[in-house]
This record gives sequence, structure tokens and C-alpha cells, in this order.
Amino acid sequence: MIYSPSFPVLCHSPRVTVIGAGRVGSTLAQRIAEKNLADVVLLDIVEGIPQGLALDLMEARGMELHNRKIIGTNNYADTSGSHVVVITAGFPRKPGMSRDDLLLMNAKIVVESVTKAIAYSPNAIYIVVTNPLDVMTYLAWQATGLPRDRIMGMAGVLDSARFQTFIAMELEVAPTDVNAIVLGSHGDLMVPLPRYSTVNGIPITELLDAATIERLVERTRHGGAEIVGLMQSGSAFFAPASSTCVMVESILLNQSRLLPVTAYLQGEYGLKDIFIGVPCHLASDGIERILELNLTDAERSALSTSAQVIRKIIDKTQENFVGVSR
Ligand code: LAC
Repeated sequence: MIYSPSFPVLCHSPRVTVIGAGRVGSTLAQRIAEKNLADVVLLDIVEGIPQGLALDLMEARGMELHNRKIIGTNNYADTSGSHVVVITAGFPRKPGMSRDDLLLMNAKIVVESVTKAIAYSPNAIYIVVTNPLDVMTYLAWQATGLPRDRIMGMAGVLDSARFQTFIAMELEVAPTDVNAIVLGSHGDLMVPLPRYSTVNGIPITELLDAATIERLVERTRHGGAEIVGLMQSGSAFFAPASSTCVMVESILLNQSRLLPVTAYLQGEYGLKDIFIGVPCHLASDGIERILELNLTDAERSALSTSAQVIRKIIDKTQENFVGVSR
């Protein structure tokens, strides 16, 4: 049960809505239900797909040992009263496409989805997953007028998980022993932080030489594209779904986990009026607080370059969304 001031009704099972029943959305629905975290409403505009996926997941319940409901729908009314709403709707990347190429195609989808969802779940916490992530989160925030603690993007958890994986592979240690952190935009200008990445508390800068670390950082920066290149059709979805599930879990279980989250900054890290990846504590009311790490000049300048690029793309798209600007 959830006891939270944001949710006036005491719920026996929290409800998470996942908008977009593509590979990320459907895998996320599976993870949430099979981790026994919440009932899930899976919504898509394509008729039959979310209904079919939901029935398929319902039929696995006896074997996966849970009793969560999974509802598939094309109707936003069915999402009513959700505690968390995740937006995965949009087109995925094709080989050779940057996340920004997706901008115009996905902006309309995200703004429409979030506007419809908030009419039915005004108290929910919103997580945007659609790319280009930092810009989509900004547009969703603008369209909804949500306070910054209740709207965020998922990217840093995924980018950090990739960095964690590459460090673990290089050192031949368990990934669970590796704590890695990546800030900044979800793109080529993301900011992995080797100084703050450790193996059970030992900074990786003590365990690997600079050239090796740089190779792992570069691989992390292009982690999404590497998978798009291998698959040739579609992009990563297992790790993106797991990363989003970690955020949903920290919110639903009020864990206050410290996770890199795409958050709205109002002066933190010297940045304003931008959504970008920074370490945040996530709990039942959303972003409880943002942690300001001490950064070196080089790290701070990489973060600010990352922010400048996001800002340029926001400015480019803003005129299309004058109706909802604040
Ligand atoms: C990736 C996409 C989901 O990084 O942005 O794989």
C-alpha cells in the first residue's frame, strides 16, 4: 500500500500507466507487473496491440507468481488515477539517425500523450522516455505545467548502466559491484564521471589507466547507437525498460534512491530553465532533492556544453509549441 500525501486515496495496488506499447513500453509493463510493483495500464493508439500484449502478460501471471492486473487500451479514460505515468510513445531510432532526427516526429506525439494523460491523472508523477529525451521532457513539462518534482526523464540510469556494464566487462567483476554515474544529455555529449564511478567504493581511476577509461567512456556515449547498428531495425529496449523500472520502483516504494535523472534545473550546476541529467533522490513525491556534486572545471564545462546543445534544440522547436509556453 502507498501512504503518500500526493495520493489522497489509500490504494491497495498502485497503478502505473505506460503510454506506447512498443518494445520499451511492453517490456516495462512486464517488468513492473512481474516485479509485483503495481497494476499496469498499457496504452497505445494502435487498436488491438495493447489489448493483446496485456492479455498475454495476464496469462503469464500464474507462472510468474503475481496477481497484478494488466489492462491494454486505446482510451485515456482507462488510465485514470495513475500514480506514475511513463511516456514511451514515439518512433525509435533507425541506423544512422541521431536522437535529434527524431525530434519533430516525436514532439507532437509526446505533447499529445502527456496532455491527454494529465486530464485523468493530475496527481501522477510523469517519466518521459521518448527520444530525444531531454527535449521531449522539456516539452512535456511545458505542456502540462507540472511542478518540477513530478516530471522527469529517464536517461541517466540507462547511460550509467551501460558505463557500469563496460567497466565490469573490462575488469571482469560483477556489475553489481560497480557503481557508475553519467550526467548530462542523453546523447553524444553525455558526461560520464569516472572520478565518481567505483568498484565497491574504489574509484575506477585507481583500477584502470586513462586511455582505457576514455575507451569505455566513448563506448558509453555511443551505447544506444551501437545497439541500433547491430539490430538494424529498432533500438535497445531491455536495458531502457529496466532503467525506467528502477525509477518507478524508487517512486512507488518511496526508496529515495540516488539516481541520475533528467530534471528541471533552476540554478543548480549553474544551469537554468533546462532539463538535463543530474543526481536526484526519487521517492513517493517524485524528485525529493537534487544533489549538487563538486565537479572539476572540465566536468562542469562538459555539462554546460551538453546543456547548450539541448537549449539550442529547444529553441528551434519552441515556436511549434507557442500555445503551451509558460
Ligand atoms: C538508447 C535509446 C533508447 O540509448 O536512446 O538505447
